[in-house]
Amino acid sequence: MARDEDGYWETEISAEAVTENNMTTATVDKTKLIVTRLDDTIIAFSRTCPHAAADLGKGTLHRGRVSCPNHGWKFDIRSGRILWPEDEYCSLKRYPVKITNGIIWINV
Ligand code: FES
Repeated sequence: MARDEDGYWETEISAEAVTENNMTTATVDKTKLIVTRLDDTIIAFSRTCPHAAADLGKGTLHRGRVSCPNHGWKFDIRSGRILWPEDEYCSLKRYPVKITNGIIWINV
């Protein structure tokens, strides 16, 4: 896996293959991620739930909201902000993404 001078790792994921409401899993530099699309934007976020480390890849994703399979916490994948429960303050870790020649690169 190649890394550029800005710290982005090349994945083998084609941007065209990433679709809205679907989670593409990837491991980049030992970091487990989920890659998805929301409108025209590719978004990468941690596969590990910030509550108690469940695999968010086994949860659900709909219209920019990911729900954890263990306790049902919900996060906005655009901002990482927690949506439910409303009295919690943790957030979802997100990673910068760029597309080069149709391939997704992620900075972890
Ligand atoms: S581990 Fe994800 S909500 Fe508890």
